[in-house]
Amino acid sequence: MIKPDATSKGHTGAILDQIIKAGFKVKAMKWIHLSTAQAGEFYAVHKERPFYGELVSFMSSGPIVAAILEKDNAVADFRTLIGATDPAKADAGTIRKNFASSIGENAVHGSDSDENAAIEGNFFFSGLERF
Ligand code: CMP
Repeated sequence: MIKPDATSKGHTGAILDQIIKAGFKVKAMKWIHLSTAQAGEFYAVHKERPFYGELVSFMSSGPIVAAILEKDNAVADFRTLIGATDPAKADAGTIRKNFASSIGENAVHGSDSDENAAIEGNFFFSGLERF
């Protein structure tokens, strides 16, 4: 996902450009404004965390871009491309170092396993919307 901080600052095109230049193929993509209920469901795994309310409110504060990306070793390579969750700790040249402002408003989300990538892809896309 490209998160609301990045879409609202006009970084969507630059972030997609960086992702595609890193070798990822876009298999599905949509521009969507999540409701608080939808954002809460997506991040339900973090329900008990102290930042859950803030995370859900932020993720439903504006449009996001959801995408399914394909590449060999996609999960690990995408996490390297986006950098650490906290942009202050992200390596130079990573998407979060380039575009994020804080640990909460950190520009992008990437799945943390192949299994979660399948679950998260199914959250946003039907079979008709991917190829
Ligand atoms: P993401 O990769 O989308 O997965 C969960 C998100 O929770 C994470 O990126 C951060 O945006 C957010 N998050 C993690 N830790 C904190 C924190 N300490 N305060 C606020 N948000 C956080």
